[in-house]
Amino acid sequence: MKDPYSWPGQATELVMRDAESALGECSCLPWEWATFGYPGRAPLPVALEALTLAQKINPNNIGDHSLPFRQAGHKQTEHGFDGTQRLEREAIASLVQLAGGDPATTGGYLCEGGTSANLAGLWMGRNYLRAQPGAKRTVIITTRLAHYSILKAADILGFNPNDIIYAPCNRSGGISVCDITELAYRLQSERITGVLFVCTAGSTMMGSVDDVSQVNELRAGLRLAGISTYIHVDAAFGGFVLPFLAKPVRFGFDQGADSVVIDPHKMGGVPFGCGAILYREQYAGPVAVKAPYLNSEQDWTINGSRSGANAVALWAVLEEQGFDQLAKCVQQCIALRDYARELLDQVDHFQVHVGQTNQLCLEITDLSVVERLASRVCNHPYYMHVAPFPRRFDDPNCQEGRALKMILMPHHTKQMVDEFVRQVKL
Ligand SMILES: Cc1ncc(COP(=O)(O)O)c(C=O)c1O
Repeated sequence: MKDPYSWPGQATELVMRDAESALGECSCLPWEWATFGYPGRAPLPVALEALTLAQKINPNNIGDHSLPFRQAGHKQTEHGFDGTQRLEREAIASLVQLAGGDPATTGGYLCEGGTSANLAGLWMGRNYLRAQPGAKRTVIITTRLAHYSILKAADILGFNPNDIIYAPCNRSGGISVCDITELAYRLQSERITGVLFVCTAGSTMMGSVDDVSQVNELRAGLRLAGISTYIHVDAAFGGFVLPFLAKPVRFGFDQGADSVVIDPHKMGGVPFGCGAILYREQYAGPVAVKAPYLNSEQDWTINGSRSGANAVALWAVLEEQGFDQLAKCVQQCIALRDYARELLDQVDHFQVHVGQTNQLCLEITDLSVVERLASRVCNHPYYMHVAPFPRRFDDPNCQEGRALKMILMPHHTKQMVDEFVRQVKL
């Protein structure tokens, strides 16, 4: 234990030696192994270079600098960081384009990752719905395949468990819209006046994508029934994958989304600590608060101080890679996914589910093998998790089964897949 009132510190060399030895304990770090359970990749060299350069200056990009707010004459939040604010503005505009939006009317900012970006999106949705004339009760409609950060955000924002309605899924794991219609009309009898739809574009367990345009089509009918709606899309993983597929999948603003989450720190090659929330400009107002010491006098971000260095790293990746190289990388991962799928389809105790991203979901159909499987795949080099997975997509209340998610990242190879298949044949 250190004396809390007197701690002289240590020589830099000793501190760095201890730090290096701690890093040596992180066996995921070299990114050379078959880390199939983990949606991370080695940061791109240009991201590291840009980050290191910017961190020396330690820019603080507090507030929102994106285009619509600049154009509308909102004041700069803080003077002195013009360069990194500009690069964030440019990077956000590129992400907005990936999400099918118009950078002139769709803003956003970088934050720590998907969890805080989802909180930001749900915050906007809740406040917007709450501000509608005659608003009483708002519920969230999502599916069992939504990421757990949605439940965390819902809890923080004061939703009760019975304010979360799970819609069934179709055979591809996407939200089943016709069943939702029935459900939504039932809401009227429960005096529900607002529905916050949470769609997932690249679900964590299987890479499935909810059809946002179909959800969007429900809105007119609900409006007639006196129910206001908001659509939040969690594309934390899919945002850097779906636009780069050979046949790009649309999931965002052009499909009717009001806010979208994309994580550059997953497939984007930017080090961890870099997520993004994007939103139509009208949703900033409902969450804006007075910020007495900022030049802008108001702030609508979840964060206070934010890393300007992350903005530089993301901007550098987008500039250097262009959309073309990012697409090439995604398509290589998809080819490896298809290779793995063919082999794993032959393994008796798996049912292989394929979504639209570079991952597979290996549902374990024979639960007697779970322990033996876990002993082979949960640690080095695979770092997989045996996780709950719905046994039936059409019944949100069905019993849970077990599954492994297998993510094929840029550092994975066919040899790694072959060895994995040998291991899981048992
Ligand atoms: C779909 C989805 N949303 C949100 C998250 C949470 O992201 P983060 O870990 O960056 O907070 C994840 C993480 O894997 C995810 O897959």
